[in-house]
Amino acid sequence: MVVWSKIRRDFPVLNQLYEGKNLIYFDSACMALKPVQVWEAMEYYYKYLGACGGAGRSTHSLGQETSMLTEEARVNMASFINAASPNEIIWTRNATEGLNIVAATIPLKKEENVVTTTLEHHSGMLPFYKRCQETGSEMRLVEADKDGTLDPADFEKQIDDNTKIVSFVHTSNLTGTVAPLEEVIEIAHDHGALVVSDEAQYAPHSKLDVKKIDVDFSVLSIHKACGPTGVGVLYGKYELLEELDMFLVGGDVIEDVIYEDGKIIPKYLPPPHKFEAGLQNYGGMMGAGAAVEYLQKIGMDTIHRREQVFSRKLLEGILELEKFEVIGPLDYKQRAALVSFRPKSGSINHNDITEYFNEMIPSHKILMRSGNMCVHPFQYQIGLNPGKGEGVVRASLYIYNTMNEIEIFLTELENFAKFID
Ligand SMILES: Cc1ncc(COP(=O)(O)O)c(C=O)c1O
Repeated sequence: MVVWSKIRRDFPVLNQLYEGKNLIYFDSACMALKPVQVWEAMEYYYKYLGACGGAGRSTHSLGQETSMLTEEARVNMASFINAASPNEIIWTRNATEGLNIVAATIPLKKEENVVTTTLEHHSGMLPFYKRCQETGSEMRLVEADKDGTLDPADFEKQIDDNTKIVSFVHTSNLTGTVAPLEEVIEIAHDHGALVVSDEAQYAPHSKLDVKKIDVDFSVLSIHKACGPTGVGVLYGKYELLEELDMFLVGGDVIEDVIYEDGKIIPKYLPPPHKFEAGLQNYGGMMGAGAAVEYLQKIGMDTIHRREQVFSRKLLEGILELEKFEVIGPLDYKQRAALVSFRPKSGSINHNDITEYFNEMIPSHKILMRSGNMCVHPFQYQIGLNPGKGEGVVRASLYIYNTMNEIEIFLTELENFAKFID
């Protein structure tokens, strides 16, 4: 059985008074806090190794242990998402880099199209937009419903035999909606299209089984999964990774660079190293391996079940106050553990709310994100104008939050609601 109070003690950030106040951290959809286990793994590298890893680089003892530990972290990551092999795991800097790699390297012809949605994070939308601009291919947008849900029938209308890539967000960082991934994968594969799933918000909170759902490529953001900043993962089916063009080239991605008759002939390494150019973030990889091992020990289904209870309380509590418009579906079963909201009326804006919760409550600092969450197109679709500074507040939860924190937040939100006319 998971002892949640023990889990919470693994996060020293939460066990301090900050400026004399208790912290309630409701910003995990942006950045999750890190348990001691993660920074101990990184500390070991920086304190006792500090050397260069990677095939064919420094082969001395410190280099060998660095390589061994980073490859162990790759094995942990493969197990976390049930990849067929660690060689399907590519370390990136973040989810954005993974999306840029696939958008730039999947062969795409002018007559082919790319299907994505209006609900995408800019990191999931703009790399494909840019590529389509370069190739002259059509980018088709599936419109999310006004409540942020995505209907497989709308994908069916946009996907045809010329669709090369279908890319979309599994859990939205704005609305919290979980997309019907498996149905869309089936539709896409029926038309011979490749599917890219943005797992930045899904994989830290629920079990992602890439083999079971048969997705072609997925990207993860490790800093949202209790891991270090500056680490992401691109998953791809091995035979597809082999076919992709190179992305960054230079050191560490080559078997050889032959010089013959005044010309060079590069011979590139197979995946995953083909996509890991230059000296890597070894400490970060070890921290990432420790982070997913930590989450797996708790159990992804256990995390999901607990978050459902918490997100119901959070969502229904905000709705009950009747002063706030909630962005996304109003049924907790259709969403993940985050709620974006804004005042229904009056001149108080989203930044006023986060500032108040950060500064004005005597006993606590309640830390939330305000703004547009890098999802402008959907906000325009539902009538908000990010260009004119309109936005939302987002409260997002994770494994270290408690029901008591949600209750404190709701009491304070009720107090705050009195300022809204
Ligand atoms: C759904 C989604 N996709 C992509 C990203 C970008 O992630 P990263 O910062 O790791 O590049 C985010 C970050 O908030 C996100 O929420």
